[in-house]
Amino acid sequence: MERSRAWLTEIQVCPSILAADFGAFRASVRDLLDAGARTFHVDVMDGHFVPVITFGTGVVAAVADEVHDAGGALAVHMMVERPERFVDDYAKAGADAFTVHVEATPHLHYWLDRIREAGMAPGVTLNPGTPVAQLDAVAHLADNLLCMSVNPGWGGQAFIPASIERIAALRALARDGAGVEVDGGVGPDTIEACARAGANRFTAGSAIFAAPDPAAAYHDLVERVRAATARVAT
Ligand code: DX5
Ligand code: ZN
Repeated sequence: MERSRAWLTEIQVCPSILAADFGAFRASVRDLLDAGARTFHVDVMDGHFVPVITFGTGVVAAVADEVHDAGGALAVHMMVERPERFVDDYAKAGADAFTVHVEATPHLHYWLDRIREAGMAPGVTLNPGTPVAQLDAVAHLADNLLCMSVNPGWGGQAFIPASIERIAALRALARDGAGVEVDGGVGPDTIEACARAGANRFTAGSAIFAAPDPAAAYHDLVERVRAATARVAT
């Protein structure tokens, strides 16, 4: 069954479970659900597109019921060569959004439609070294435009400042009803500039899970985004 896509355009801080305790995904997700988080970012890495291998459908399935019962969503970020091979598997496991890299498949135009047909929100993203113009022909097919603000593969890297302009460029390409997500190096020092540039979903791994109190760190990021967006609105 197709779930609502309204969450894509909400202002949300999205914990990336890449930085969580791999032995305790459910407990980490539960703690952040209790703190108010609703969308969780799931980084799938294959050891080819990026050097690291992380996790797959099993982790999505393990937390899907808990997240969905709370009205939340699971946004999968595929750092995988030819991610199209896995569309049906992730839909079945409970993923709500499936975001692929422009560098990882030659058939983006085709697959963004197929991802939607599989019941997930189609998303597209690009490495910091890839010109945003590469999305010109497909942005209208995506519900999620993700700005990588670090090179994909690892958590805990420094935010690349040029990402601010790229967020604004992605916002300009996004159709009505699509969200703009920023991912990598998002924390207390960078989140407000991302909000002002036009992002509405803010993925944070180490800024939340490496903090002594992840729930408090999550609340702090939410407050910073609220303050920044209130200033934009006035
Ligand atoms: C990096 C991943 C990110 C990662 C971000 O390849 O795509 O989602 O979890 O981690 P932080 O927030 O620590 O930069
Ligand atoms: Zn990611």
